[in-house]
Amino acid sequence: MCGIVGYVGKHSPKDFLLNGLKSLEYRGYDSAGIALKNKHDLQIIKSVGKIKNLEEKVKNASLIKSNIGIAHTRWATHGAPTENNAHPHQVGKVTLVHNGIIENAGEIKERLLKEGYIFNSDTDTEVACGLINYYYDGDEIKAIEKAIEKLTGSYAFGIMFEGNEKLYAVRKGSPLIVGINDAENYIASDITAIINYTNKYILLDEGEIAVISDNEVEIIKDSKKINKEVLTADISAEAKDKQGYDHYMLKEIMEEPVLLENTLRPFLADISLIPDLREYEEVHIVACGSAMYAGMIGKSLLEEKASIKVMCELASEYRYKKVFYDRKTLVILVSQSGETADTIAAMRKAKENGIDTLAIVNVKTSTIARETDRQIYIEAGPEIAVATTKAYILQVAIFGLLAYRASNSINIISEIKKLPRYVNEILGDRDTYLKIAKEIYQNNDIFFIGRKIDYAICMEGSLKLKEVSYLHSEAYQAGELKHGTISLIDDGTPVFGIITDDDIRDKTISNIEEVKSRGAKVIIVSNRKVSGYDRQIIVPKISDYFQAILVVPCLQLIAYEVAKLRGCDIDKPKNLAKSVTVE
Ligand code: G6P
Repeated sequence: MCGIVGYVGKHSPKDFLLNGLKSLEYRGYDSAGIALKNKHDLQIIKSVGKIKNLEEKVKNASLIKSNIGIAHTRWATHGAPTENNAHPHQVGKVTLVHNGIIENAGEIKERLLKEGYIFNSDTDTEVACGLINYYYDGDEIKAIEKAIEKLTGSYAFGIMFEGNEKLYAVRKGSPLIVGINDAENYIASDITAIINYTNKYILLDEGEIAVISDNEVEIIKDSKKINKEVLTADISAEAKDKQGYDHYMLKEIMEEPVLLENTLRPFLADISLIPDLREYEEVHIVACGSAMYAGMIGKSLLEEKASIKVMCELASEYRYKKVFYDRKTLVILVSQSGETADTIAAMRKAKENGIDTLAIVNVKTSTIARETDRQIYIEAGPEIAVATTKAYILQVAIFGLLAYRASNSINIISEIKKLPRYVNEILGDRDTYLKIAKEIYQNNDIFFIGRKIDYAICMEGSLKLKEVSYLHSEAYQAGELKHGTISLIDDGTPVFGIITDDDIRDKTISNIEEVKSRGAKVIIVSNRKVSGYDRQIIVPKISDYFQAILVVPCLQLIAYEVAKLRGCDIDKPKNLAKSVTVE
């Protein structure tokens, strides 16, 4: 969600900035812009839609000679996705790009209007830019410090001032790193934007201001220079290539077997590396989107297998609702990016209440990884497709381990070791998924029904399909359908019936019969054949702790094939952002 890149060096920033924006495309955006600058001159070019539109405009413009620049992909919050609202914004001597939301922009705008400021956009960003300009009297650091003292909300800013050749950066809530190279330095929302240029970077913490020139990076905190560690990123540039696949989504699904092996390996060698949740009386699993649906699988397993009381809640609800911390509680935050604003707020709520926190997270340098008490890392590597696939599967695998560790189960380590091979087998059956996709891709409404853990699987299957194919689909508890929603089942309505839970199998089959007799086109996904149905995907049977991992990849591939048949922008679905860094 919103991407920022910036450059200071000896060369023209144009190519670095445009390449950087392309690397950040996966975060989701609806307009883009670039500002090129030398000591005194400034040129801003913006466009709505894809980066190629911006690229085209830049190609046709006569560009000023420049050695500093900032660029931005905008995911609209304040104001529609128009050219005017796109970043960078310039007010007076200040030009900036912003990721986040300034919550008190309205009142600051009023004040600045009274001071004679004129605004050309509907954005909170232009207001922040105006405020820095208002305080600017030649001292850049002081102007930034005074402005951020007044701003509430979240921000990562890349800032340039007329008259100097430095780039300034500051953040609160939204992520930002400073890339270090020889004779040029950068800022970026994340490492993927700079990895083709350097793997050295500094993580900017809240309250720190980076002052960046071509040969120096200074970090200022409380008006004083501080020393910051220069980190080395361990991702390769190839990890972010499509490597021959048509889409990142497909590549990332196909990586699941290897990544499962890498993620599980240390824990299978020593299961005590997984925390034993029996030390808690209650567990809250809090996350957004697919990470929450992985948490629903976790809830089901921890309750059924380890008899631990679990609440699983959306972070956007949890952060504001009344939560009772009256028992010894652990809050588990699940997040691929580790930067989702609502999940961060939920984490901080738990911490303020003195509650232990555990992260299941992919990005090791993220806010959630850094601020939780304990972390379990999924080794997904960079996930570029907006719709998560591999990270979800690895999150579910970690919940399988947590439940196994907290239960008195017989030893199933050798069975768990079969998982990657089984997933590989499942992924090999692409013809089946394409055949099913062809049968359903022109339908308007698609249902996923199941009970207990199978309902949690349905939630992810349905979300994946709507995210990438824009088809309306719903996940429903199979037993509840007859209390209303069954009225939507017509002749030919596709219904996926998910059945992996043996305890409830017969009940689910009865519910599936109910839709079948009303004309539904039923597709069974199970670990055992169900007689009387033509369309069936039968996955290998494995211990209950990990059975979901053998079902969801099929649903991911069906969603992928449906989206492809419908000609959708699979890796960057409309309106979506990969990392939702605003509320
Ligand atoms: C966005 C993404 C989803 C993701 C959710 C949570 O909505 O599009 O794919 O599940 O954020 O992201 P996180 O990084 O916290 O796992």
